[in-house]
Amino acid sequence: MRAATVVVIEALALAAVELSRTVAAGSLAGIGGESGGINPDGDRQRTIDIVADRLMREALRTAPVAAVLSEEAELPETLDADAPLCVAIDPLDGSANLENNISVGTIFSIRPKAHDIISTFFEPGTAQCAAGCFIYGPQTILVLALDQCVDCFTLDPRTNEFVLSACDLRVSQDTSEFAINASNRRHWSGAVRGFIDQCLAGVDGERGQDFNMRWIGSLVAEAYRILIRGGVFLYPADARQGYREGRLRLLYEAHPIALIMEWAGGAASDGRTRILELSARTPHQRVPLIMGSTRAVRDVDAIHQKVEPLFESSDAPLFARRGLFR
Ligand code: F6P
Ligand code: MN
Repeated sequence: MRAATVVVIEALALAAVELSRTVAAGSLAGIGGESGGINPDGDRQRTIDIVADRLMREALRTAPVAAVLSEEAELPETLDADAPLCVAIDPLDGSANLENNISVGTIFSIRPKAHDIISTFFEPGTAQCAAGCFIYGPQTILVLALDQCVDCFTLDPRTNEFVLSACDLRVSQDTSEFAINASNRRHWSGAVRGFIDQCLAGVDGERGQDFNMRWIGSLVAEAYRILIRGGVFLYPADARQGYREGRLRLLYEAHPIALIMEWAGGAASDGRTRILELSARTPHQRVPLIMGSTRAVRDVDAIHQKVEPLFESSDAPLFARRGLFR
């Protein structure tokens, strides 16, 4: 199984070299605009999303992959039904940021095929045997979670090879940096507001330290920053229409990023449950994601224990209820 997993990663890396060149060419590649399509989760597709999807699928066809589930298609595509692995992929995460020349990336999750393809994708995130992301930024970097540890490889543009550049990354346990889209504050639950208010209170508040804030709007770039210098990232559920399970998708965003975080000694939760213990009910299911430095993630979980949820069940909003922090 490990040998097959490595073949999949190598195939993805070849495609990433090409995608990184296309991304770097920007408007010169002539694929900057919108395609006119909408992906299964309702995001507007750019032509480059479709190009990235095609590149990654073509690569996976050359590898021992039974099926691929992509952000850009409604259902998994069967490639070689007898092959041992299945892949979930976000071919170009953060693509809306490209017009601003901000880092984007490809996120992938690899798992052994269960007794059938569909049930493979409905297993918990602990079923993953490897995960990673390519970041197309000032450097093209592969962050790879394999064999219970996380390594980084930097693309050498002279040889088109990914060269090992950092071994066994460890996320710092403590942090004084948080990341959240603060424009949604009025829609957050009491728990999320409570945690962020503690951070904003700085040295005078109960956390007893000043915090810095970052929000890139590109999950791969946030995850990389946290791997390098710690931090906590929150994309919680909120009260906006369509956001009751957050924004990020479980199978090709939260699961692989959670595997990277945990294998680097960090944590990832939905506020109550470890992300890796969650199973998807639908291919594009969303999930709240809190990830990064373990102590901060645990503190967010602890606050969630104390306050009532934003939603009691999948169809009962509880805005009027008072929580500890409301
Ligand atoms: O794929 C979703 C994504 O682009 C992530 O990369 C990023 O973390 C998030 O959306 C940003 O969402 P928002 O624009 O709501 O802050
Ligand atoms: Mn994405």
